[in-house]
Amino acid sequence: MHHFAYRRGVSHKNVLHAEEVDLADLASAVGTPFYCYSSATLERHYRVFADAFAGTPGTLVCYSVKANSSLGVLATLGQLGAGMDVVSEGELRRALAVKVPPERIVFSGVGKTRAEMAFALNTGIFAFNVESEPELRALSEVAAELKRTARIAFRVNPDVDAKTHHKIATGKADNKFGVPFAEAPSLYALARELPCIEAAGVHMHIGSQITDLAPFRNAFALLKELVASLRAEGFAISFVNLGGGLGIPYRSDQPAPPSPADYAKLVQEEVGGLGLRLLFEPGRMIAGNAGILVARVLYVKQGAAKIFTIVDAAMNDLMRPTLYEAYHEILPVVEPASGTPTIVTDVAGPVCETGDYLALARELPELHAGDLIAVMTAGAYGAVLASEYNSRLLVPEVLVAGNRYSVTRPRPGYDDMLAKERLPNWI
Ligand code: LLP
Repeated sequence: MHHFAYRRGVSHKNVLHAEEVDLADLASAVGTPFYCYSSATLERHYRVFADAFAGTPGTLVCYSVKANSSLGVLATLGQLGAGMDVVSEGELRRALAVKVPPERIVFSGVGKTRAEMAFALNTGIFAFNVESEPELRALSEVAAELKRTARIAFRVNPDVDAKTHHKIATGKADNKFGVPFAEAPSLYALARELPCIEAAGVHMHIGSQITDLAPFRNAFALLKELVASLRAEGFAISFVNLGGGLGIPYRSDQPAPPSPADYAKLVQEEVGGLGLRLLFEPGRMIAGNAGILVARVLYVKQGAAKIFTIVDAAMNDLMRPTLYEAYHEILPVVEPASGTPTIVTDVAGPVCETGDYLALARELPELHAGDLIAVMTAGAYGAVLASEYNSRLLVPEVLVAGNRYSVTRPRPGYDDMLAKERLPNWI
């Protein structure tokens, strides 16, 4: 469910709108390419997820900032009561910049530096998700120096196959994430001995874009067993953090993944009734369908074997198709008249790489130079993964709310790009 739909535009054609904003008008005002996010979709997705746990007081939904860290997006979610899951000091500073209370923030990641730990401890975040014994020891030392206590949850690796793309599966024994399940009890015992550590929770995150509930069930069942055995040994476990990972629909022609309500039911079945506070770290589920990438067709090129639709957005703007073989729907911004012939085409960008494409062998209504397209479901892991490869400028980000829009990250100029660098003093 999202708020991008065709509506009658001033041209009397049906034009794709973001809420009440005409995307063709927006493209004229902002230029292409650009990312566009819908506040209403962000809000809806946050509420659907949070409301699914309304019956469990104290539940904390920590939006995973890595999915989309645009300040406008974070502020929109923060105002609704969202906490944040951060993986770097940069993300933590973003969350604080939009006034998310520190007690709603958790800090994940396998490679936190001591400087990052110190910054987070001084901020007073809710908890660290600790991923190894050396990290635990470092955190204890940093906390002792600062005379603070670090509340932690060990991220436990359950060795469960999340049945998702191999680059976004994190819960198998051969992934770098978490501590081995069997070693968890001895690590909680160590944590009890170390100064300035309060091991109060257990964390798990088994992967992303998970479209089958079975891996979650297997993982949460193991988590429940672990909590029971830790409690039996006298550890005061008060919360579990179940991570993120719930998949979203990328294709309207395929069955929808499980809903947050289905997921919530499963969570209650597995870990409800233990008197534990529940934390979650959804990213894609909240931001994915709340964003699109709008681009303009530059050329329609007839190759020897294929038709290439060359657009002004490229792999540096949206990495997902080439990095994860991801499928993103593409819609013409102006709805084609019924009966418009379709073609099968690769939609590619200007970057000098064969892997630079947004879609392969896609059936689309015939497009022409100058036409606008919208690459759908690009709100999560889109702009955050962008780079200036080929010295292309980062694309603007626009947040829409009803009939208003705000360019929350303007397009930089070429002078800005060049001004970020220095020549060495010997030249
Ligand atoms: N918590 C932790 C510890 C994570 O590592 C992640 C995602 C999340 C929560 C949020 O997961 P979500 O609810 O968004 O699935 N760039 C890839 C996805 C990488 C996910 C990394 N970790 C993509 O575009 O598919």
